[in-house]
Amino acid sequence: MTTIKIDGIEVPFKEGQTIMDAALAADIYIPHLCHKPGLSPHGSCKLCTVDVNGRAVSSCTMPAEEGQEIENNTAALNETRKTITQMLFIEGNHLCPSCEKTGDCTLQAIGYHLGMLDGHFPQFYPRREVDASHGSLVLDRDRCIVCELCVRASRECDGKDVFAISGRGSNRHLIVNSPTGRLADSDIELDDMAAHICPVGAILIKDHGYEVPIGRRTFDLHSVAETDLDELILKKTTHHDEADESAEKEGGVYGV
Ligand code: SF4
Ligand code: FES
Repeated sequence: MTTIKIDGIEVPFKEGQTIMDAALAADIYIPHLCHKPGLSPHGSCKLCTVDVNGRAVSSCTMPAEEGQEIENNTAALNETRKTITQMLFIEGNHLCPSCEKTGDCTLQAIGYHLGMLDGHFPQFYPRREVDASHGSLVLDRDRCIVCELCVRASRECDGKDVFAISGRGSNRHLIVNSPTGRLADSDIELDDMAAHICPVGAILIKDHGYEVPIGRRTFDLHSVAETDLDELILKKTTHHDEADESAEKEGGVYGV
């Protein structure tokens, strides 16, 4: 059996797996935002950076190789991850108490996980275009962290090409591939994976705001470090309420 070592633990891997793949399969959490199992790796957010034999690499793109000694959950790496998270927060308008995604937002959950107490850096307060033209979806670019999960989900899962990234540096932003550039004129549909995959509140479903109450949302009930959360997060964005489900089994919400 071929293995790598993560924080001193022997972790088996299969040919073709990345360090992230092997870690998640072994129930070891490496913080990540732009990675989602089943989609091609992207390597852009850098939250998943680990030290491999003393060299910093993105674990979501680095193939696992026999003999790798990997440091992941160290104070120094988590401090760097916290700084990256703070930069993502201040670069967009992530005003959690007024965002419908609060409690279901992976960026917010990672902030809590890493002990982030403030944005630390001056806030950018960007003013990017909001697209509410679609009947079922809203695209608020002010909250987009340019992770490209929606771009890849549309292309690789939905067989469409609804989103793309344009611009460079701090001008990078999400564009919609339609004749007018508006979501309403694209072929995105509510059932598409791309409509539900956003880890922040940049793509929201209309008419279902606060359907799952605060206090019963994904990260009210789960730690972001649970390695099997990905499926559940996608279910949650389709307004799956775990509390309702377990209450139904017991005879109604709150057992009534
Ligand atoms: S809209 Fe959401 S999923 Fe798409 S790039 Fe922006 S943050 Fe990522
Ligand atoms: S999860 Fe690896 S770079 Fe984003």
